[in-house]
Amino acid sequence: MANATTMPAFGNLQGVKVVYSAMEIAAPVAAELLAEWGADVTWIENTFYGDSMRDTTYVKELERRNQRSIQLNVFSEEGREVLFNLVKDADIFIESSKGPAYAKRGITDELLWEHNPSLVIVHVSGFGQYGVESRVNRAAYDLTVQAYSGYLSQNGTPEQPMAAAPYLGDYATSLMVVGSSLAALNKAKETGVGESIDVAMHEVMLRIGAYYMMDFLNEGIKYPRAGARHQNLCGIGEYKCKDGFIGICLYGAPQNKAILERIGLGHLWGTEEIPEGTTGLWLDGPKAQLIEQKLEEYLLTKTVAEVEEDFSNCKIAANAVLEFEDIINEPHYAAREDFIEWETIEGKTVKGPNIFPKFKKNPGQVWRPMPSLGMDTVDILTKAGYSTEQIEELCEKGIVKAGKSPVTV
Ligand code: COA
Repeated sequence: MANATTMPAFGNLQGVKVVYSAMEIAAPVAAELLAEWGADVTWIENTFYGDSMRDTTYVKELERRNQRSIQLNVFSEEGREVLFNLVKDADIFIESSKGPAYAKRGITDELLWEHNPSLVIVHVSGFGQYGVESRVNRAAYDLTVQAYSGYLSQNGTPEQPMAAAPYLGDYATSLMVVGSSLAALNKAKETGVGESIDVAMHEVMLRIGAYYMMDFLNEGIKYPRAGARHQNLCGIGEYKCKDGFIGICLYGAPQNKAILERIGLGHLWGTEEIPEGTTGLWLDGPKAQLIEQKLEEYLLTKTVAEVEEDFSNCKIAANAVLEFEDIINEPHYAAREDFIEWETIEGKTVKGPNIFPKFKKNPGQVWRPMPSLGMDTVDILTKAGYSTEQIEELCEKGIVKAGKSPVTV
């Protein structure tokens, strides 16, 4: 197995060095994706209990692949110097904390740029680096930012708002971190001048939840929470068939005609109420309730497989709602090798998603499992120019901790 100093060269991010200090999902998953696309990723964990993600059983094995772990107290005076040494030749530094925790403790962007002028710095927080102080300094997880952003209030039933699971606010943030850091890196490579990015999770969710908000902002229109149906169109939602659930997304003129024919309302097509060429069957349309009722009745007489095949043949987007058991037996997933197995650091086989997306010329790779806590501290410090004596001294002072690898790598 490759160790900290012998990472293989692969992927579109070959040669890009990323250092991050964060826990859980939002920021670390961004680092995971970059690592899977070939970046060299160093994961800074605190010197007390490490990343709380280590409490999970399996997901940590997925979300910390291809990384190296150092335990470092970045907020001690000497620890800060170590951080500067780690980022001096890095391209991207990502941290996640409650507001401007780094700047408040003296690790400002300007100081980081003194050590590396072209560094792309990404600050991930619930509510940003500035704003109303009492808000900015709050702890935040997916659910609380979904609640604050207006995303959560749009999902669920009229009686019960519900968050979009699992952890949409975190994973959407990860993608925003990946995109924004690579955008800034593109510029920094050209100009030699770094960037600082303020990724506020509530703003990520505000942006991805803005579809219906646009109607509200501009015309004061609000749609009720629609549960398993769409806010304003017929034929969109999770419907019940004889033997299970199907997701249907009805849109387009030929599709509407085909569905009306199937549910016994074909005579409505081409009338004043539903003129030929109608692309959207709006819920405030004259026959909307009837269409929904007839569609629900029709679907209850059919199996999921029958509906999926028939609707797909009519170019209506329809898919059985697959359970995990169905997915692992689904031939399309197998044909695309969407699941792979790799060995954990303890030598156990673990199964999980492959690397996505699939790059044709420079594919990603899993070159290393999740490291154990602080397993690479010595390797990383040695590579950063520290002598054995200096490393021992940092360990004795508790500035860093050197964990043990459960196996020889
Ligand atoms: N060295 C020294 N101190 C460190 C450290 C390190 N490497 N890593 C963390 N710490 C400090 C933190 O600054 C914090 O100090 P504080 O409580 O005085 O502010 C303390 O250790 C606890 O760390 P933190 O990561 O903030 O844990 P937490 O349990 O208090 O909060 C979060 C965890 C995730 C709620 C918080 O970090 C947060 O809101 N992050 C931004 C949003 C986010 O990423 N949410 C999670 C999405 S999955």
